Amino acid sequence: MRDFPRTRMRRLRAHDFSRRLVREHRLTADDLIYPVFVLEGEQQREAVPSMPGVERLSIDLLVEAAREWVDLGIPMVALFPVVPTGKKSLEAEEAYNPDGLAQRAVRALKAAYPALGVMTDVALDPFTTHGQDGIIDDSGYVMNDVTVETLVRQALSQAEAGADVVAPSDMMDGRIGAIREALEDEGCPNVQIMAYSAKYASSYYGPFRDAVGSAGNLGKANKSTYQMDPGNTDEALHEIMLDLQEGADMVMVKPGMPYLDIVRRVKEEFRVPTFAYQVSGEYAMHQAAAQNGWLDLNAVMMESLVAFKRAGADGILTYFAVDAARQLAKND
Ligand code: PBG
Repeated sequence: MRDFPRTRMRRLRAHDFSRRLVREHRLTADDLIYPVFVLEGEQQREAVPSMPGVERLSIDLLVEAAREWVDLGIPMVALFPVVPTGKKSLEAEEAYNPDGLAQRAVRALKAAYPALGVMTDVALDPFTTHGQDGIIDDSGYVMNDVTVETLVRQALSQAEAGADVVAPSDMMDGRIGAIREALEDEGCPNVQIMAYSAKYASSYYGPFRDAVGSAGNLGKANKSTYQMDPGNTDEALHEIMLDLQEGADMVMVKPGMPYLDIVRRVKEEFRVPTFAYQVSGEYAMHQAAAQNGWLDLNAVMMESLVAFKRAGADGILTYFAVDAARQLAKND
C-alpha cells in the first residue's frame, strides 16, 4: 500500500497550534526537585567552579532565595550540607547531630515555607574523613550493617527536624527497611522515603563531590563496591523491587540522561513514582558547552528535561530547576 501522500507526517508539524495539540509530554514546575548545597555561617555564598551558576548558601541566604523557588511552584528542594572538615570523622557522628547543618536547614526552611517539600540526603559521605558513604573497616571496605545503623540514626534526626522526605543515596543493603521500621517506631509514619535505588558508580558525580567538599577526601578511591555497575540493567530492577518491598514510596534512577533506558524499564515494570537525577556532571557538560558558545543553554536545558518525562520519569532532580521554572513561567 502506498501511504504517501495520504499520510504526510509533516501536516501536523506545520503549525504551532497542532504541534501543541499533539504534544505528548510536557515539563511543568511540578516536575522539578531542586538540589541545594548548604553552608555554615551567615551571609555566606560561594560559587562552585565546576558547576557554573550553582552557589553554596548559608541557611539565612538559602531561606531568602527559596522565596522565589516557592513562588515559581517548585514543589521540593533536596538539601546537601557542606560539612566543615573539623566535623568529619571515621564514624560520621555529625550525620545524626540534631543540631547539624542539614537538620538546622530543614527547620529554617519548614518554618519559613511550611508548604515547601524538604528532602534530605541519607548517606555518610559529607561526614566521613575518607569521603565514602559508609563506615569502613581496616581494608577500606564499606561495612554494610554497621553503616545502616548510623543511616537509621541520621534519617530519624532529619525526620525529627521536620524533613518531609528522606532520601537514602548510600546504596547499603537493607537500609530502606531499617529506616522505614524506625520511622514507624518513632512516630513518623508519614515521612516519605525516596530511595536512590538504581544508583550507578558513575564518573558524572565529580562536580557534586567538589561542591560538598568530599572529592579531596575520596581521592582516587571509588564507590564500586556499593554503587551499581554501569553495564547492568536487570540489577536495577532487582534493587527497585527490594526497595519497594522494604517500604520506599518513590524510587530514583541516577545519573539521568545516560540512564534513560533504566528509567523507562523501571516505570514500565513497576508503575510507581519514579524519579531521575540529572546529576552534577550532566549539568556541568551543558554549562561548559554553552560557555563555549557550542550549545544554546536554554534550549538544551528544556530539551534535556522533557526527555526525562518522555522516558517515563514523574519528576527530575536537577540543578536547572530554578532556571527551567523561570523559563516555564515566562512562557505562560
Ligand atoms: C552521595 C551523593 C552523591 C550524589 C548525591 N548524593 C555523590 C556520590 O555518590 O558520590 C551525586 C549528585 C550529583 O552528582 O549531582 N551520597
